Amino acid sequence: MTPTVDEAGRALATPAAYADEARLHEALAVLRRESPVHLVEQDGYNPFWAVTRHADVLEVERRHDLFRNAPRPVLGTAEFDRMNNARIAQGAAMRTLVHMDDPDHRVIRAIGADWFRPKAMRALEPRVRELARRYVDRLADLGGRCDFVQEVAVHFPLYVILSLLGLPESDFDRMLRLTQELFGGDDEEMQRGTTPEEKLAVVLDFFAYFQELTAARRAHPTDDLASAIANARVDGEPLSDTDTGSYYVIIATAGHDTTSSTIAGGLHALVTHPDQLDRLRADLSLMPLAVDEMIRWVTPVKAFMRTAAADHELRGVTIRRGDSLLLAYPSANRDEDVFADPFRFDVGRDPNKHLAFGFGVHYCLGAALARIEVRAFFEELLPRLRSVEPDGEPTGIATTFVGGLKRLPIRYTLE
Ligand code: HEM
Repeated sequence: MTPTVDEAGRALATPAAYADEARLHEALAVLRRESPVHLVEQDGYNPFWAVTRHADVLEVERRHDLFRNAPRPVLGTAEFDRMNNARIAQGAAMRTLVHMDDPDHRVIRAIGADWFRPKAMRALEPRVRELARRYVDRLADLGGRCDFVQEVAVHFPLYVILSLLGLPESDFDRMLRLTQELFGGDDEEMQRGTTPEEKLAVVLDFFAYFQELTAARRAHPTDDLASAIANARVDGEPLSDTDTGSYYVIIATAGHDTTSSTIAGGLHALVTHPDQLDRLRADLSLMPLAVDEMIRWVTPVKAFMRTAAADHELRGVTIRRGDSLLLAYPSANRDEDVFADPFRFDVGRDPNKHLAFGFGVHYCLGAALARIEVRAFFEELLPRLRSVEPDGEPTGIATTFVGGLKRLPIRYTLE
């Protein structure tokens, strides 16, 4: 049954709703059509406005002077917000790029922006390609049946990002677990514990690990990203422990589940649209367009939040100073006003003005790297792939933040 607007709005603050794509998209379509800027009041969550149309998400992102990332950049429970606000009041909160606004945001972003610019990323491409090949070989070694998410997709992007950061391979498994605990935080299978204290413990573990790394890179600088962060200076001073630790956290986490969800969801889209798989295999020059279509299709970042710094009218709705807004990226990326036939997976879609990487001053710092990774993986895989088909039902991750498939059983033959 089609949900009412209020039920549809509440789905956005229901982690389980995200594990069921069809149900989520049905709710989002109702909101776009009937109440595109909709007040969501869900038990256990502070209220927020759900912004579901592409044009409105763009407007909110553009007006970063008015719609600020602090103090509530991501959707959490009211209890999570309470603890976060208490930490902000004590000056002990995590301060990653997504928690910041100008002027601090511009200064701190510049440290990583140089490293992540497309030209610098292209220089890293051979290393990314080598890792992609390793994971396609792994697929071959698995012998024709596997859970593509758990055995391949979650590993490759993490290895890329950790190897760019300069971490030793012996630490990769520990990082995999920590990033999953941090980002898959609403999904029971991924959790270390259920209380906000247990979730906080994950963040603190991260900080402890990266504090040691900072000390090591300050003592012996190298040419990796960890050295760039550890030795960065703002007004002649090194970054504080909080800012350094936060930088590592955002890169290790933002660069991982996002890309692995895209690769898994992208393969799933190809498997379930065999005509598009054949088309892409026959013409690999479509790959850059196909990569962006996979990113639009999956939209692994489900939302970021903004807080209004002043009263503002958005699509006829008065937003009050202090109100929160949720930017519903999966909805913007299926907006019928912007995408021709938005529910068609089309590896040649052009133009494709998706908002999966956000927009404006917070636009994803790792977008160029993410595109290189997804492209490298499928360029290595497709020429060797003879056949692929589903081998059971896939399952989705229950999370309101970053995610996609948790399991994707496939059967395949590789050359
Ligand atoms: C921010 C999506 C991969 C690093 C963001 C934002 C989105 C996003 C939606 C927020 C943008 C906004 O507020 O307007 C994605 C998607 C990815 C991906 C869909 C993969 C397909 C990566 C990778 C890295 C990365 C590989 C780094 C290794 C970051 C950072 C930010 C960010 C550092 C914060 C930027 C800021 O606030 O200034 N990403 N991301 N992301 N992303 Fe990504």
